[in-house]
Amino acid sequence: MNVIEMNQISRSFGMGNGTTTALEGIDLIVPKGEFLVIMGSSGSGKSTLLNIIGLLDQADQGEYLLDGKDVAFISQRKQAKIRRNNIGFIFQSFNLIGRMNILENVSLPLLYKGVSTVKRLERASEILKYLGIQEKEYYFPNQLSGGQLQRAAIARAMVNRPSIVLADEPTGNLDTKASKVIMAALQEIHQAGNTIIMVTHNPDLAVYADRVINMEDGKIVEEFVGKSMTKEIKELQDEAEEIVEPATSLAIEPTAKREKTKVRNKKGKNTKKTSSKEAKNA
Ligand SMILES: Nc1ncnc2c1ncn2[C@@H]1O[C@H](COP(=O)(O)OP(=O)(O)OP(=O)(O)O)[C@@H](O)[C@H]1O
Ligand SMILES: [Mg+2]
Repeated sequence: MNVIEMNQISRSFGMGNGTTTALEGIDLIVPKGEFLVIMGSSGSGKSTLLNIIGLLDQADQGEYLLDGKDVAFISQRKQAKIRRNNIGFIFQSFNLIGRMNILENVSLPLLYKGVSTVKRLERASEILKYLGIQEKEYYFPNQLSGGQLQRAAIARAMVNRPSIVLADEPTGNLDTKASKVIMAALQEIHQAGNTIIMVTHNPDLAVYADRVINMEDGKIVEEFVGKSMTKEIKELQDEAEEIVEPATSLAIEPTAKREKTKVRNKKGKNTKKTSSKEAKNA
């Protein structure tokens, strides 16, 4: 069964000359239990797509079936109901509430669901323990590190046992160790049969995915499946870097980065060298 079926979904912001087309004719089918990764450059429409999938925003045009139900243009009330029963969100910015401690933050989705206070806090504490930050449950968000906040945000997304988890850069700005904790948690949710849709810029995370889609200018331009996808995605990113190289050649830091990339790609790739030369001559 398909959890998500989108047909020609489009979304624009603003009016007249100031219009930005964030999504244009998106066709997307996500089978139940899939771990889908969405990649693409900044501004390509990933968060907009995730927000529409999670019923936080609505498309201007197109068809959207969630669990077989037409949800493209339902009321905000109905949207909220579906969200609270089926969907867990991990936002790009964590969206924790500053005046509530971590335990209260994490238990919040259960409040909207009408679960009793004791049960709510118990369940929240259990999840925080699982994610290794139970000792911080009475702290406030501004007293936690970025990685701890990220884990709290994941705990909040998991607390209502959602069948769909939507994650926008859940490992952004985290070191490798903290990222692994997050990814292990997501993998576990996935293995329990739930659907995960995760936005990331990190091609290494493709190893967790069943499928990766790549977005550009509001469209899905590529799709990767199978064992070689991490390699294919990295190659694609290298090519994209080559294209933008001349434009960034005046900056000092990117030059140093470029040298590193060049070494990594030494085997069989000399196109990069050519483009750096071109950049210097430009
Ligand atoms: N509320 C909004 N009002 C106006 N423009 C918006 C709004 N939300 C998104 N956009 C525009 O839509 C486009 C897609 O934005 P989106 O946030 O989906 O990109 P993204 O792929 O998630 O980027 P990033 O990787 O930087 O998070 C951008 O050009 C953005 O400026
Ligand atoms: Mg985004």
